[in-house]
Amino acid sequence: MIANSMQVNFSQLRADFPLLQKTNRNKPVIFFDSAASAQKPRQVLEAVNHFYQHDYANIHRGIYELSERASLLYENTREKVRQFIHAKEAGEIVFVRGTTEAINLVANCLSQDWQAGDEVILSEMEHHANIVPWYLLKTKLGIALKIIPVRDDGSIDTDAYQTLFSARTKLVAISHVSNALGTINPVKEMTEIAHAHDVPVLFDGAQAVPHLAVDVQAIDCDFYAFSGHKMYAPTGIGVLYGKKAYLDLMPPYQGGGDMIESVSFSKVTFAKAPHKFEAGTPDIAGAIGLSAAIDYLQAIGMDEIFAHEQQLLSYAEAALLTIPTLKIIGTAKPKVGVISFTMDGIHPHDIGTVLDHEGIAVRAGHHCAMPLMERMGVAATVRASFAVYTDEQDVDALIKGIQLAVRIFS
Ligand SMILES: Cc1ncc(COP(=O)(O)O)c(C=O)c1O
Repeated sequence: MIANSMQVNFSQLRADFPLLQKTNRNKPVIFFDSAASAQKPRQVLEAVNHFYQHDYANIHRGIYELSERASLLYENTREKVRQFIHAKEAGEIVFVRGTTEAINLVANCLSQDWQAGDEVILSEMEHHANIVPWYLLKTKLGIALKIIPVRDDGSIDTDAYQTLFSARTKLVAISHVSNALGTINPVKEMTEIAHAHDVPVLFDGAQAVPHLAVDVQAIDCDFYAFSGHKMYAPTGIGVLYGKKAYLDLMPPYQGGGDMIESVSFSKVTFAKAPHKFEAGTPDIAGAIGLSAAIDYLQAIGMDEIFAHEQQLLSYAEAALLTIPTLKIIGTAKPKVGVISFTMDGIHPHDIGTVLDHEGIAVRAGHHCAMPLMERMGVAATVRASFAVYTDEQDVDALIKGIQLAVRIFS
């Protein structure tokens, strides 16, 4: 167990991840698809296992000790998430399935009084999870989507952003970090601009929380969404942060048990936020895993993780640029450890297949960001994304794999 010391030796973190000790096509697993979902450290797996074996019961409804213990562990995770993203109150943390559900929740519950002609500002670099919920509102209510352009280098056009506001703007919803290019957006400045127009802001933080320290109060955003599985927790648990004033105003998302105060056939009264947004049995074990994942990240240190991945990013970019037919898509700085690239004469899927045969997992495709691919003038890219367990040897293997693809296809 390495991620416990003050000074973390990143090269040893790999030992924490059981799956990375296995083989893929008879070769050591080299995992460059952590932006899709990160591998899980033993500490998280053991926490979930321990919970099921020692503390498991449904929450918030049993009057017996086990249920009280499970409820406490679940609510303690809410407090841990609050600290992790520096929210003011634990009541501002809503547990959801993931980023997608968090954004759908806001789209459904914030739009109750929106009308045809109202506007939402998105950007050209959004993941489909932050496009489709708003598109559905467009078809249902007749709202308009205003799109912030992306510059050639993959940065968001903040000048154009300022011109998109009108008296009908209801929300700005953009990614903190682009999943396809790695670009880190200037979220604090963008929030200030939106607030100057009295418009609330939602950030899709799915690709930010695993890589950098997030402080929602410093950003001053109104909503912040992220998924546990991209930050080393299990699938099925995620978080919507919402400022209390908004959560109090918004109606429930789904109806069911655990989100009510009282129910009769003639009248239902709802629990207060965040519980009014958590209908039914939640992913209790997922929350326990999320708690362990936060402990894991904090034992390493978010600033240390950022610095490690930045150093690796420079190393990888320098090495990739020695391959003359390779083009990096998205060069704007700052960015996290995500590198998208194309190669002359070789389709991204073919590169992905060659790499797979070498035991190297990358993502090849549109990365659920089709409008961004169109903007960058490509149908698809190969994406290599980093995590705490990625090291220079992984990057060296990636380069060798790409050189092999060049030889095969030339
Ligand atoms: C930026 C971004 N937003 C949203 C999502 C959707 O996350 P989930 O599938 O966990 O809901 C992803 C997943 O790749 C993402 O990268």
